[in-house]
Amino acid sequence: MTAATFRVHVDPEKCQGHNRCYSISPELFDLDELGMSSEIGAGLVPADLITKARLAVANCPEHAISLTEETEPEE
Ligand code: F3S
Repeated sequence: MTAATFRVHVDPEKCQGHNRCYSISPELFDLDELGMSSEIGAGLVPADLITKARLAVANCPEHAISLTEETEPEE
């Protein structure tokens, strides 16, 4: 068995402040005073928000959001 952990990350070099990510999932993204996005905390995606995370990735016009899966073998 393996345990998968998903994380989102916003590339600040690519983000242009379209805010679609925040509209889709304010649970995962935060905006600064200029409307630029960043992931909340360490970007950890709870299991029930994975669909929203994928939607945010697909809807960012700048392709600034990445979703990565870290798989750690169980001890
Ligand atoms: Fe930025 Fe894309 Fe969100 S441009 S504000 S990461 S939709």
